[in-house]
Amino acid sequence: MPSATAITIKPARRISGRLGVPGDKSIAHRYALLAALVDGPSRLANFAPGADCHSTLGCLASLGVQIREDPASRSVTVMGRGFKQWRSPSGPLDAGNSGTTMRMMAGLLAAQPFSVTMIGDESLSRRPMRRVIEPLARMGARIEATDGHAPLMIHGHPLHGIDFAPDVPSAQVKSAVLLAGLHAEGSTSVREPAQTRDHTERALTTFGYQLDVAGLTTTVRGGQTGQPRDVSIPGDFSSAAFWLVAASALPGSHVEITDVGLNPTRTGLLDILRRFGARVTVVETATEAGEPRGTIHVEADRHGTVEVHPSEVPGLIDELPAIAALAAHSGQVVVRGARELRVKESNRITTLVTGFRALGIDADEYPDGFIIRGNGAPAGGVAQAQGDHRMAMAFAVAALAGHGASRVDGSDAVVISYPEFWETLERLVA
Ligand code: S3P
Repeated sequence: MPSATAITIKPARRISGRLGVPGDKSIAHRYALLAALVDGPSRLANFAPGADCHSTLGCLASLGVQIREDPASRSVTVMGRGFKQWRSPSGPLDAGNSGTTMRMMAGLLAAQPFSVTMIGDESLSRRPMRRVIEPLARMGARIEATDGHAPLMIHGHPLHGIDFAPDVPSAQVKSAVLLAGLHAEGSTSVREPAQTRDHTERALTTFGYQLDVAGLTTTVRGGQTGQPRDVSIPGDFSSAAFWLVAASALPGSHVEITDVGLNPTRTGLLDILRRFGARVTVVETATEAGEPRGTIHVEADRHGTVEVHPSEVPGLIDELPAIAALAAHSGQVVVRGARELRVKESNRITTLVTGFRALGIDADEYPDGFIIRGNGAPAGGVAQAQGDHRMAMAFAVAALAGHGASRVDGSDAVVISYPEFWETLERLVA
């Protein structure tokens, strides 16, 4: 949807500072859902403040799950009463812009004894849902969609376990099937074509479920009951990524990000920054609920050429827009094997290349990626975020390297994952 909000970005010679980032969005979705399946209250500290995780909380509330939010301490308490106590909602469940909400929730609703409609915004209604509909239908659910897109009419049914090998690596699909598997007869296995983020597996263990992980195959047994937990969510590595990239790209910069998630299925970006030529130091300080966290320090040094290989893509899929900004000023970034970017919150290959060109940066599309060639400070210009939070933030970081001022149109998209992004940017360039 076109948005009236816009932010002007002044060129910045460098960024510097020490900061924390908001709670991890992926982990927060999972904790909220698992807490709603078990019987008893779970307190989720440092809950992700963005609109996406609020979509998950809103859907749970419509299903009769009581939720208490304490914005001052950024904690959320989910008063779970067990999966069987979920109630048929009075209207459609709205997942907003959140693919994670729609796909993971579909896995849970597939086993409920009622029918529910799930809707989403314009962007979510364009995203592919067959990838969850098909395995859930194989398990026994009936899901109606329009040409594989939302709205989804989910007619829950007693499920049976399946052995599922998805074509595309997707943590959301893996999670939907495993969550359905908790309420299916027998065992459910997902054999991934490549390792994707494993927060669901770690969260299941935390909430007391047993699962078996052997290489890329994860198996859950149906009929298990979990327990409520009080857990704290680490900072979101994908939000930290924008500052890590800015600090690598702008000479003389350095940032330190504290208490940020370091799950190795998420941190592929760190290797890219090192290959580009930045100095990167990581200190792991703790592991809570199976999720490692710590401090990352990044300092700009050289500006090299970096190629992201297809095998690296699942470990940094959400960081690719930020990675493009590495070469906004100098150096080069080439990404291949990332066709999935075309079915994210926007077509991220086209949105990115169009926006970078508008900022005066040399950028080209491949069917499955892009190339960015830094060529000195770009002139600056006006980039359109196309309603995509990560695009708005990537354009802002790229625009810092500009020769003149730039504008990001649709700047309010950051509310999806990082509501305080613009204030933080102002602080880091000061
Ligand atoms: C996510 C998985 C990824 C990622 C998305 C969040 C998750 O999507 O791009 O932002 O929380 O499981 P896919 O599973 O579609 O790759």
